Amino acid sequence: GKRTFTMIKPDAFGAGNTGAIIKMIEEAGFKLVAGKITHLTKELAGKFYEVHKERPFYGELCDFMSSGPIMAIVLEKDNAVEDFRKLIGATNPAEAAEGTIRKAYAKSVGENAVHGSDSDENAAIESSFFFSKFEEIA
Ligand code: GTP
Ligand code: MG
Repeated sequence: GKRTFTMIKPDAFGAGNTGAIIKMIEEAGFKLVAGKITHLTKELAGKFYEVHKERPFYGELCDFMSSGPIMAIVLEKDNAVEDFRKLIGATNPAEAAEGTIRKAYAKSVGENAVHGSDSDENAAIESSFFFSKFEEIA
């Protein structure tokens, strides 16, 4: 697939790392096709992460994702989902490879700087959570 979806999470947005992270994303060959800054309510965060609702960290995740502004972005590149997951690195920054976004900016397994869709299907679902077709250019 050619598109994926990412969020700059509240930890990275609040720390002023949005620009540096977008620079890493662009240098890795991704084009930005839609973007917005917003602040999720706990209810909306819960809806976005509904697939994780049975996991023990679900409450913490929803509290964290609604704790401050985020930036939602749709990205375009060949093999977008897989290549972006590689660029962000492991969920736990202690296990993230050198040169990845999480290695550089994540604080912990929960506060890990960025989201990346895990399939083409979820990329489309997650993009439409934030954007209309008309907001996705190119
Ligand atoms: P995303 O790109 O954000 O979906 O991360 P991921 O695919 O690498 O991880 P996963 O989908 O398994 O988990 C979603 C998010 O839940 C993670 O990115 C973390 O923010 C959070 N999370 C995962 N495991 C834990 C945990 O053990 N504790 C806490 N507090 N949060 C966790
Ligand atoms: Mg995930």
